Amino acid sequence: MLKSYERLLTGNKQWAKDKLKDNPDFFKNLTRGQNPEYLWIGCSDSRVPANEITNTQSGEIFVHRNIANIVVNTDVNLLSVLYFAVETLKVKHVIVCGHYGCGGVLAAMESKDHGFVNNWLRNIKEVYNKHVVELESITDQQLRANRLVELNVIEQVHNLAKTRIVQEHWKKRELEIHGWVYGFDDGLIRDLEVNYSDIKNVEPIFRYDI
Ligand code: CO
Repeated sequence: MLKSYERLLTGNKQWAKDKLKDNPDFFKNLTRGQNPEYLWIGCSDSRVPANEITNTQSGEIFVHRNIANIVVNTDVNLLSVLYFAVETLKVKHVIVCGHYGCGGVLAAMESKDHGFVNNWLRNIKEVYNKHVVELESITDQQLRANRLVELNVIEQVHNLAKTRIVQEHWKKRELEIHGWVYGFDDGLIRDLEVNYSDIKNVEPIFRYDI
């Protein structure tokens, strides 16, 4: 009887075999290094794997995931990923991709105590509070949650634009940041059309003279 984790190891063997069958140089190419064009900031949710839902391969997307795809300006982990992606890998696009039915967003909409996770979910509560009039005008709970998912992504795109890292690179070269939402119901990603490529969309107080 196979232990549940062993399934992953046998699965890996099969995957490696299949990759080699498609392209005998697949792993040889990966050992040469990575040159991804995209940084993906997505949710940790197991149903939103960046490569799989974008039909891309190993080496194409640099990935950071956390609960509810949040960009926090004191998160050393996220900022390190962002810095490395734009400074060293020179990615051309940074994508924040949220998803409808996000457990983190749903949890932030209620008063239930989630222990330590409250600290993280607070960021989404702030987004809710900022857009409380619009959100509470939506009576259908699911539609309200869907809208908060979208507003959260838009807010995180703004948070990216407020970072020195992004602003510095806008001075030096082309870098676009995007906000997307993925839906389980049809497997499709919607572009929220918050595609920023310069400082124009950043409120003056958040702009740096770099
Ligand atoms: Co989620």
